[in-house]
Amino acid sequence: MTGFGSGDAECSRAVELLAGCGRGVALTGAGMSQESGVPTFRDALTGWWARYDPMQLATPEAYRTDPARVFGWYVYRWRMARQVEPHAGHLALADVARSFDHFAVVTQNVDGLHRRAGSEDIIELHGSLEAFRCVGGRHPFDPERFRDLDLPEGGGVEPPACATCGSPIRPGVVWFGEQLPSDAIGRAHELVTTCDALLVIGTSSVVYPAAGLPDLALTAGATVIEINPDRTPLSPRATLHWPATAGEALPQLAAALAGTA
Ligand code: OAD
Repeated sequence: MTGFGSGDAECSRAVELLAGCGRGVALTGAGMSQESGVPTFRDALTGWWARYDPMQLATPEAYRTDPARVFGWYVYRWRMARQVEPHAGHLALADVARSFDHFAVVTQNVDGLHRRAGSEDIIELHGSLEAFRCVGGRHPFDPERFRDLDLPEGGGVEPPACATCGSPIRPGVVWFGEQLPSDAIGRAHELVTTCDALLVIGTSSVVYPAAGLPDLALTAGATVIEINPDRTPLSPRATLHWPATAGEALPQLAAALAGTA
């Protein structure tokens, strides 16, 4: 049929489902940033965990065992996050938010791209690559000195000592085995249990507690729309699974919602 592109049926259904929804939330994962050139974790071949063992890079034990390797990987990712740009999907999500009375973004991503794209009320469940701090007193550390470092992927960087207390600097992210910041997960719970609609974008829905948020929303009666080219454990329960990338679906959704506003 001419004039109809892929995703039109899902887009129309999403607009129908979102009609009259005052409170919206987006839950995003690594797939949200994939089209900005940031690798996901679990995609075959291209994901970080296809090439590295998460237990050797993203745990407190790994940092204790090989601090330079772990710290270097986060410095590398911090620089990558600064070099890439938000894509059309990030920008469109900030537009989608305008169709709601209140809209928040709960993200597992640590790259800061939602903020740079203009989204507001962002809850960073897994911390931020910008938030380096010391192990001893949680004093903040400015990573600016690493901006021009010649650092190949996989290169090590010895963690510097905190200028205030002398303890080593670590990335301000949540590692496997660590608790999520209680204010962030508390706010996320509150948002998903009181929203009318939850958009779940670019997450494999396997890492808890984030992966449990859509079920809380469903139990509380919200519509859950999953945007992901692949099916996930959430897909059978989602109100709608839209098989598209964030960069394809979100601009289409933003345009359709603006047209019906
Ligand atoms: P994953 O890598 O597990 O999942 C990414 C999801 O995005 C997959 O389901 C892909 O199908 C999907 N995807 C890929 N490209 C996409 C695109 N362009 N648009 C939309 N979706 C796309 O990433 P997360 O679910 O975010 O934690 O992973 C959760 C956590 O596990 C991360 O925060 C990280 C990781 O290990 C830590 O490092 C502690």
